[in-house]
Amino acid sequence: MKDSKQQVFDFWNEASCGEDLYLTSTKKSGYQDQAKSRYQLEPYILDFAKFEQSKGKRVLEIGVGLGADHQQFAEAGAILTGIDLTQRAIEHTKHRFDTFKLQSTLLNCDAENLSFSDETFDIVYSWGVLHHSPNTPRAIGEVLRVLKPGGTARIMIYSKWSMVGIMLWIRYALMKLRPWMTITEIYSRYLESPGTKAYTIAGAQILMKSFTDRKIWTVLTHGDLLDSPVGQRHAGPLLNLARRIWPRWIIRTFLPTSGLFMLIEARKPL
Ligand SMILES: C[S@@+](CC[C@H](N)C(=O)[O-])C[C@H]1O[C@@H](n2cnc3c(N)ncnc32)[C@H](O)[C@@H]1O
Repeated sequence: MKDSKQQVFDFWNEASCGEDLYLTSTKKSGYQDQAKSRYQLEPYILDFAKFEQSKGKRVLEIGVGLGADHQQFAEAGAILTGIDLTQRAIEHTKHRFDTFKLQSTLLNCDAENLSFSDETFDIVYSWGVLHHSPNTPRAIGEVLRVLKPGGTARIMIYSKWSMVGIMLWIRYALMKLRPWMTITEIYSRYLESPGTKAYTIAGAQILMKSFTDRKIWTVLTHGDLLDSPVGQRHAGPLLNLARRIWPRWIIRTFLPTSGLFMLIEARKPL
């Protein structure tokens, strides 16, 4: 049995996030198209990441993936460092940065063991990464350590009671006659890399307890609303049918907090 970090590595080294679905080429136009689809599908990233406020700031992005957000930080004038567990993501982002003639220090590194001194960064940003790492509290501890006092963490992790989670539970627990499976087990086995976790707001408060000025909220995503492919592991006629009959208006109106993405903004105490 492979260890849990190796399983995460193997999953993301097979294809970086969105590579199969949205990256049509590794030319300039391919990256531009991928960024366009990304911010069309996930417009809240732009509000949350506040790229434009990073000019002249020391920014660390954990889990760069294909590098779209990293590019936004670079174009905004951040003094930039990016890491990812997989060499594949680092190579993609390096190639992207060479193509657009942008600068960043890009390293293959584990979020749970950052190779930076204490109090190095003004901002640590991580979108959809830390819930994949086996020891998420340890990775959050590293975010705290490398932030300067007063520095800002902006982190997206998955929210437990989401429409995506419920859909996966119906598909892989109820329809397979295993209703005793917990939603925690469902995320761990069926959403992206093995061992993926999802948090309640109370759980995220505990995770972030050493930070101050914590703001934690959820957003409905294209996955919850079935407005797009759900991810690189899910496809098929059942999903196509669900996509046609999905009650988007009801979800938006009555269940606005049932989104998969939990957005966290917090500061390291002075
Ligand atoms: C869902 S992708 C997100 C990538 C990018 N942030 C985005 O939004 O497209 C998850 C990324 O996290 C990386 N990752 C997972 N565990 C990690 C860890 N312990 N340290 C650093 N990166 C990690 C994976 O290699 C993968 O590139």
